[in-house]
Amino acid sequence: MNSSSKASFSFFLVFMLLSTLCFQIAPAFDYYILATQWASTFCTPRSRCIPNIPRDFVIHGLWPSNNNGHHPQDCNLADKFDYQNVVSLEPRLSQKWPDLLGSHIFWSKQWEKHGTCSGLSQLDYFDKALNVFDDIEPLSGVMGIKNKNYVPGSFLFPGVLVNEWGNQYGYFPKITCYYYPRLQLLFELHYNVSKDVDPSNGKLQPQSIIFPRNRNTCRSRGTIYFPN
Ligand SMILES: *[C@@H]1O[C@H](CO)[C@@H](O)[C@H](O)[C@H]1NC(C)=O
Repeated sequence: MNSSSKASFSFFLVFMLLSTLCFQIAPAFDYYILATQWASTFCTPRSRCIPNIPRDFVIHGLWPSNNNGHHPQDCNLADKFDYQNVVSLEPRLSQKWPDLLGSHIFWSKQWEKHGTCSGLSQLDYFDKALNVFDDIEPLSGVMGIKNKNYVPGSFLFPGVLVNEWGNQYGYFPKITCYYYPRLQLLFELHYNVSKDVDPSNGKLQPQSIIFPRNRNTCRSRGTIYFPN
C-alpha cells in the first residue's frame, strides 16, 4: 500500500471502531418509562414475597422507550450485571428498588433487558432511576392530591386518579391494575421521563403519557382497591 491508501485505510478502521463504539454506547431511544409498583399488590398472594415488604411504591424499572413503539431491549448481553458496581447505592437500592422475591436476579434482569440500552454505566443507570424516583415520590404524590383521601386501604377510580395527578402536578402518569379474584387492585404507576436532564436543575423531567387512552389500563369502570 502507498502511504495515502494506508492513511485512508487507517481512517476507515478508526471510523469503523468509533461507529461500533457509538452504536454500543448510545443506542437510540426517545424517553424513559419509570415503572413503579405497589409492593403489596405485587406480593398478592403474600406468600410469594420476602417478609416485611415496604408499604410503598417501589421501582420496577427504568425503560428506554421509543415513540415508534419499538422499545429497545437486551442491547449488550456481554455487559453482565455485577452487584459490586452498584454497592455504593445501598441502602437506597434495597429500600426503593427491592427484589421482593428475594431471588437476587431482579436487578440483573432489569439491567440486561433495559439498562444495557440506556448508554449508561451500571452505576449511573441505577443511580438515575433512584434519583428520578425520589423526585417523583409516587406515594406522597398520590396522598398529596388535594381534596381527596387517597390512602392505602381505600377504593378509588383509576381514571380519576391519573387525571387529578395530571391536573395537580402538570403531567399525566399511567395506572395499571392486577386482577385478583373479583377485585382489581392498584398495581403500577408509570411515569414518562425525559431521556436527558434539564440543564436548569440537572434532573430528568417528568412528562405526560400523551394519549389519554394509554393512561388507564384497568378494566374496571368502577372503583379499584388500593391495598394496605
Ligand atoms: C413521553 O413524552 C414524550 C415527550 O413529550 C413524548 O414524545 C412521548 O410520546 C411520551 N410517551 C408516551 C408513552 O406518551
